[in-house]
Amino acid sequence: MKDYIATIVKNEQIAENIYAVTFDLGEEARVRAGQFGNIAVGGTHLLRRPIAVCKTEKKEVTFCYQIKGEGTQKLKTMEAGTRLNVLMPLGNGFYVEENEKKVALVGGGVGTFPLISVLREYGDKKEISAYIGYRNKGAVCGVEEFERAAKFVAVTDDGSYGEKMNAVQAFEADLKAGNRPDVVLACGPTPMLRALKTLVEKENLNCYVSLEERMGCGIGACVVCVCEKTNGARARVCKDGPVFNVNDVLL
Ligand SMILES: Cc1cc2nc3c(=O)[nH]c(=O)nc-3n(C[C@H](O)[C@H](O)[C@H](O)COP(=O)(O)OP(=O)(O)OC[C@H]3O[C@@H](n4cnc5c(N)ncnc54)[C@H](O)[C@@H]3O)c2cc1C
Ligand code: FES
Repeated sequence: MKDYIATIVKNEQIAENIYAVTFDLGEEARVRAGQFGNIAVGGTHLLRRPIAVCKTEKKEVTFCYQIKGEGTQKLKTMEAGTRLNVLMPLGNGFYVEENEKKVALVGGGVGTFPLISVLREYGDKKEISAYIGYRNKGAVCGVEEFERAAKFVAVTDDGSYGEKMNAVQAFEADLKAGNRPDVVLACGPTPMLRALKTLVEKENLNCYVSLEERMGCGIGACVVCVCEKTNGARARVCKDGPVFNVNDVLL
């Protein structure tokens, strides 16, 4: 992990309210799928913004972000050449075991971006099926990446792109059709993860979820980001996660 002084190479809109920013880190960074960076947007925004690494290519790293509040509003206005502090790579990331040949990715909203990094890391080695839910057609992005998966099902909440359903329903439909994975990797809003947890418990599937919590330091020191574990203990999402076995955490 290193606090890079990173230079923006490009920062452009890729869908409604969603941007992709690519930084030149000045050197190649070793990043595992599902890890994230903590980006200092500067000014009065003392807290950094945690954003999942979407892709890395040599010295460049790309983050995709949805405009939410002041920090992401500010980031969107930054042009090529701007230098920012980016602390990365952070967190544990997703790991697919040798014997897990068939992988299902279930993602919704901004949770789709870390799943792109899984596809990039494991796409050649595993048979990956991706079930991705978007709000509507305007929010659809990353299609050219997900189309590299063995199977890609895109759905929307309003049916304006793909079928009208959510990512968990799309996954369940394929499961019923006989496409059973060895492991499920997921990221998305908590209600989506809850629905997925119910399904994988019923189907007895191995499943890992990437959680989102408000963060401070991003490195395990401030305890802002704790989540409850099923055994009564607490875990830091930034350092012990953000990826957890779905059976280990309360959602
Ligand atoms: C591990 C991790 C990975 C993430 N990956 C992505 C991603 O790939 N793309 C993306 O668009 N978003 C991602 N998020 C959510 C992203 O961090 C927030 O949307 C962003 O920090 C909002 O900042 P803001 O200043 O625009 O919003 P504000 O609401 O003004 O933020 C105020 C404060 O709350 C924090 N905050 C607000 N919403 C969240 C949230 N959902 N999660 C964590 N902190 C939050 C901010 O960091 C900031 O400190 C991720 C969050 C985590 C924890
Ligand atoms: S953000 Fe500081 S401990 Fe997790």
